This record gives sequence, structure tokens and C-alpha cells, in this order.
Amino acid sequence: MHRPELTTSAADSTADSQGVRMSLENREIVVYDSSQSHHYQHLAPGSILRLELEQVGTSIFLETNPCVWAPTAFTTEMCQLILADTCIGKRVLDFAAGSGILGIVAGMQGARQVIFTDLNPQAIVMATRNWHLNQLPPGQATFLESNCFEAVSPYLQQTGKVDRIYSNPPTFPGTREFFQKLVADREPHAASDWNHNGRWGRFVTDALIMQGGTLLNPGGEILFVTTSRQGARRTQQLMDHYWGPGMTSDRADPLDYAHPWTERGEANWVVVHRLDLPLADYYWEFLPLYEEMVTSLGEVEPVVEKGGILYQKLYFIRAIKPPT
Ligand SMILES: C[S@@+](CC[C@H](N)C(=O)[O-])C[C@H]1O[C@@H](n2cnc3c(N)ncnc32)[C@H](O)[C@@H]1O
Repeated sequence: MHRPELTTSAADSTADSQGVRMSLENREIVVYDSSQSHHYQHLAPGSILRLELEQVGTSIFLETNPCVWAPTAFTTEMCQLILADTCIGKRVLDFAAGSGILGIVAGMQGARQVIFTDLNPQAIVMATRNWHLNQLPPGQATFLESNCFEAVSPYLQQTGKVDRIYSNPPTFPGTREFFQKLVADREPHAASDWNHNGRWGRFVTDALIMQGGTLLNPGGEILFVTTSRQGARRTQQLMDHYWGPGMTSDRADPLDYAHPWTERGEANWVVVHRLDLPLADYYWEFLPLYEEMVTSLGEVEPVVEKGGILYQKLYFIRAIKPPT
């Protein structure tokens, strides 16, 4: 386990890839509290988020920017799962990387190389800065701007496949027109703008499920989070189609269970972690669309109400590309 030795003292600093000294001096340092994560999307540029990784007794430091998605509970749950993973010697892809946090955790866990990719050019800048801020080896990371796998696939075909893909992909519904404008105008946009992807918010998730396996070495694994808001049935069907038979609940919601990966038997994919999370207010505008998904696609309930609070279901799915 790599342990960054950053402290918040004025004298402390670390070097980035160009040898520039990036000092933490005069930065606002915010200790991460998951109940406050909606505020972190709006921190002043250059603020530093400090996340405690308690299992391994260390911290991760992330420079924030309002144009780049800051970690939420989705992210921190993914971090827990990656921390429990073996990354030593692995080549890892952090797909839809945002701040770069998932790949940085993999790097701290001993990954041999981490490839970060995101559609948002600002995210690529921040992931790069954050890798160096955490004092990880400059030669062990690659940063690629890419719409899904457009630039990633040719790069991996050329340099070799990966052993792990970690991803917390975007989940906001969005129109084609909005996406085209976002990509075409090359202006900095608010972090949340980059999360709009396709009518049901699953353009990136679908690409991950459909193409992820082609970029993994045999025996390689993918770990990602998806939600009931994007359609649990479609996810289950796509997983079965592209990854082979997985484990399915016999409840109406086929993904409503959690099962240990090591006890998966013949299954190629499993929901390894399940969580209900209160629906953040930035999703409320999509509630009519989520209802439409139930009626027009025959999906299971996208949100559940408990004690007057709306919850979304989170499914953390792990899958293996079978060794040939
Ligand atoms: C929910 S954020 C997750 C960021 C980070 N992995 C985390 O867990 O905090 C989703 C990320 O997907 C990126 N994204 C959106 N559309 C994309 C696309 N078509 N291809 C690649 N990345 C995309 C966004 O820019 C954003 O950084």
C-alpha cells in the first residue's frame, strides 16, 4: 500500500510530472464527509478534499474544480471495494474517471499502471494533477480524453489489455442535442453537465457493459456501480448477453441482492454490494422520466419510498472475463 505523506502544513509540497512544486499552502482543505458531498461539486477551484481511507490508515488528497465531478457516496463505496481488492501488479483502467479517485486508490493499492479516461477535458487535467498530488509514480499513469472507448480502444489495442476496469459512470438522463453542444463548444461546463448521457442516463454504462470485456485480459475483472434509475432489468439482460450467465435475484428486481464474489460458483457476474441511497435533489427533475421508463420499458421501480423519503437502489456489479 502506497502511503502519501502529505500533511496540511504550510511547508508541505509535492512535485508534479513537470517537476513543478505544487504546494498545499494557502489551499482550503476540506475533510470529506459523505453527508455533505452535494456541496463538494461547488467548492472553489483549487480547494483540496481530504478523504480518510480508514481501513488502510491513510488519506487521499483531491484538488477540486467546479467543472469536474467531486466524489459522492457512489464513489466512496467504490473506493471501499477497491481497497478490498488485490491490485498489485495489475494494469487498471479508471473509466469515466472524473477527479481520478478510483484509479488513485488502485495506484495506492499497488497497480502496475493506471489508465484514466474521461470525456471531460478538465477531468483529465484534474486526474493528472491528483495522481501527482498523491505522490504516485509519474511513469505509472496515462491520461486519455475519450468519449467512452473511442480513444481508449485503439490505445489498449496498441499497448495491451487491462486486468481491471473500475468505473462509476454518469447516470443523468440527457438529450443528444445537449451532448453534441457540450462536446462541440469545448468550453468549461459545470461538472453535472458532463453526467447527462442518453435518454435513460445509461449511454456510458451500456458502452461499459458491451465493450468492457473486449479490453480485458482473460481472467480480468470489471467492477462498476449502476442504479435502479437506469433500469435494473436492462442491466441484467445486457450483463447476461455480454458477460455470460450471472447471478440473478428471483424478486421482481433481478439485481436486488448482494453475494460474495468468492462464492459465485459458475456465475460470471454478481451484484457484490447493494445500497439504498436517498435520492439527491438534483435527480428530482427526472422523476417523470423514471416513471415513463417503468411504463414504456417494463422496468422495475426506479425509486422506492421509505418513511416519506425517496431512495434509489445502487448495485455494485463485478464480472470476470473467463480465462480461455
Ligand atoms: C459520476 S462521475 C464519476 C467520477 C469519478 N469516477 C467518481 O467516482 O467520483 C462520471 C464521469 O463520467 C464522465 N463522462 C460522461 N460522459 C462520458 C463519456 N461519454 N465518456 C467518458 N466519460 C464520460 C463525466 O465527465 C464524469 O467525470
